[in-house]
Amino acid sequence: MNTILVTGGAGYIGSHACKALKAAGYAPVTYDNLVTGWQDAVKFGPFEHGDLQDRARLDMVFQKHKPIAVMHFAALSLVGESMQDPGLYWRNNVGGSLTLIEAAVAAGCLNFVFSSTCATYGDQDNVVLDENSAQYPINAYGASKRAIEDILRDFEVAHGLHHVIFRYFNVAGADPEGEVGEFHRPETHLVPLMLDALDGKRDALTIFGTDYDTPDGTCIRDYVHVCDLVDAHVLGLHWLRDDKGSRVFNLGTGTGFSVQEVLDQSHSVTNRAVPCTEGPRRPGDCTKLVSGSQRAKDELGWTPNRSTMKQMITDAWRWHQTGHYDR
Ligand code: UFG
Repeated sequence: MNTILVTGGAGYIGSHACKALKAAGYAPVTYDNLVTGWQDAVKFGPFEHGDLQDRARLDMVFQKHKPIAVMHFAALSLVGESMQDPGLYWRNNVGGSLTLIEAAVAAGCLNFVFSSTCATYGDQDNVVLDENSAQYPINAYGASKRAIEDILRDFEVAHGLHHVIFRYFNVAGADPEGEVGEFHRPETHLVPLMLDALDGKRDALTIFGTDYDTPDGTCIRDYVHVCDLVDAHVLGLHWLRDDKGSRVFNLGTGTGFSVQEVLDQSHSVTNRAVPCTEGPRRPGDCTKLVSGSQRAKDELGWTPNRSTMKQMITDAWRWHQTGHYDR
């Protein structure tokens, strides 16, 4: 059996990855401490409760399941929190990842797929960011992810750890079959907050800034459907298994949507207007973050075919109405 150890498999992206891995003939084993994940989301293989910083537990799990690769999603990922408590992010994300990487090497598991972020690029407004763009993170979250990228490169040189690094742009949408979806507590992301406001779970969505240098004054982001994103991970795994070497790939679509455009599209999908108020800019937000993702298309053969805004909102809305883990 081709077992893959999926850290963070109880979270939003990790749970979708487990579903995709199972569909591709792999056996995903979820390793998660359930601090931000949901046990209900572990539906596609065994669950091992544990923390990234618990080396003894990791060693036991590697020994028990003998994975051929690691997909490492587990991380804290709130930009604001990372600025208030950077130690938490360096300890959990960097310290935890280092412990995991050392355990993988010790177990002889030398294929590693890592979820990094466009936050490693920092504030480079109005530039299309490709994999060769400079990395100047402006928050501890982005800095922690960039540090893990560095660790992977060093471990490749010293120990032959082959890795694929994916730098995500804005992930949205949900499993179209409704088995898993997005649910964070607290929620900070635009699409689920917007859907909460639509069905009365919160009063109104605050638009963070309407005075940006964009056509409608609101921030522009590059949104990618979670199912397309995890498909790229399966392709990344095949890339490693084919011995193609370590590589970095951006995952976005190359098309930007402003906050106002996302709101307009949700109106057309749901036939309801999102109640909104206009607020000040959110500290740390860049004007425009758009990915150059040609490399993933050219080299991995990745085709993001669900990443239209309409499809992402349709799938997220279906999940929102039926699938929350806290029901
Ligand atoms: N936004 C609002 N109102 C809200 C929430 C968000 O107007 O209540 C806006 C934000 O200002 C931003 C856009 O919607 O312009 C998207 O915001 P999200 O919080 O959904 O996503 P971010 O772009 O802030 O964050 C994403 C990832 C992070 C990553 C970051 C890098 O979710 O993990 O990109 O910039 F670090």
